[in-house]
Amino acid sequence: MTDSEVLAIDCRHLVHRYGDFTAVDDVSLAVRPGETVGLLGPNGAGKTTVVRVLTTLTPVQRGEVKIFGLDSRRQTMDIRRNIGYVPQQLSIESALTGRQNVELFARLYDVPRSERGHRVGEALDAMQLADVADEVAGTYSGGMVRRLELAQALVNRPSLLILDEPTVGLDPIARDSVWAQVQRMQQDFGMTVLLTTHYMQEADALCDRVALMHHGRLQAVGSPAELKRKVSPDASLEDVFRHYAGTDLAEDSSQASFRTMRSTRRTARRVS
Ligand SMILES: Nc1ncnc2c1ncn2[C@@H]1O[C@H](COP(=O)(O)OP(=O)(O)OP(=O)(O)O)[C@@H](O)[C@H]1O
Ligand SMILES: [Mg+2]
Repeated sequence: MTDSEVLAIDCRHLVHRYGDFTAVDDVSLAVRPGETVGLLGPNGAGKTTVVRVLTTLTPVQRGEVKIFGLDSRRQTMDIRRNIGYVPQQLSIESALTGRQNVELFARLYDVPRSERGHRVGEALDAMQLADVADEVAGTYSGGMVRRLELAQALVNRPSLLILDEPTVGLDPIARDSVWAQVQRMQQDFGMTVLLTTHYMQEADALCDRVALMHHGRLQAVGSPAELKRKVSPDASLEDVFRHYAGTDLAEDSSQASFRTMRSTRRTARRVS
């Protein structure tokens, strides 16, 4: 990287506490423009907290966050204009059509009125939802709902797309279809992508680099190949995780498991 290249994400010594519980403990992460980076970790590791701080939805308590050189404390609105965000919990309105859902976001993102129709159509097209755009979202399959949320996140043509468990609760075919769209967008538009997932194989296949998080700390950051090589010649990414975190990815923290189950179930119910 040259000195003049501005990082898409430059997060330094981020600390986030809920009361006296430290959920994010001195996390530093640099993401270059165009990279796809996966934030991995068991339930309660602190992934969503990091993501919400990066999106500016949660203020920085301690540390520094810059997005494309913009300071998240002072240039919050400028950052938001550059970001597309798919939250862990569902963000669509099932009584509205797909198109209306995306229009809502176009208004929220302040896409100029004269461009709105075109941009909404473009986002729906990109997610291959044009055929069902005028049906109510309540009739969509789980994979279509997630693609609709991606369309919402894309309507302001973001430079950085942040996805918090975009495939949770989906069957393998729907998961593949969501990832295929993400990859295509990444390739077509050179977007930077930060995603969280519990699915190690997907992270391995999709991410240029992964950051392994556990108990609020980053345990290792690197390309999947590099991290695997360091552990053993035939290691999987799950082995890497076990090596660094000393635990299985599936292990639940008692604090997080109820929340997670509730949100996963809500996802499953809403999209069934
Ligand atoms: N609003 C909150 N108030 C108090 N504690 C919270 C709050 N949000 C998260 N936490 C706690 O902070 C820790 C990190 O939570 P976070 O949601 O960031 O983890 P995560 O890695 O995204 O987990 P998951 O895989 O379950 O989505 C957990 O122990 C969680 O219980
Ligand atoms: Mg989370």
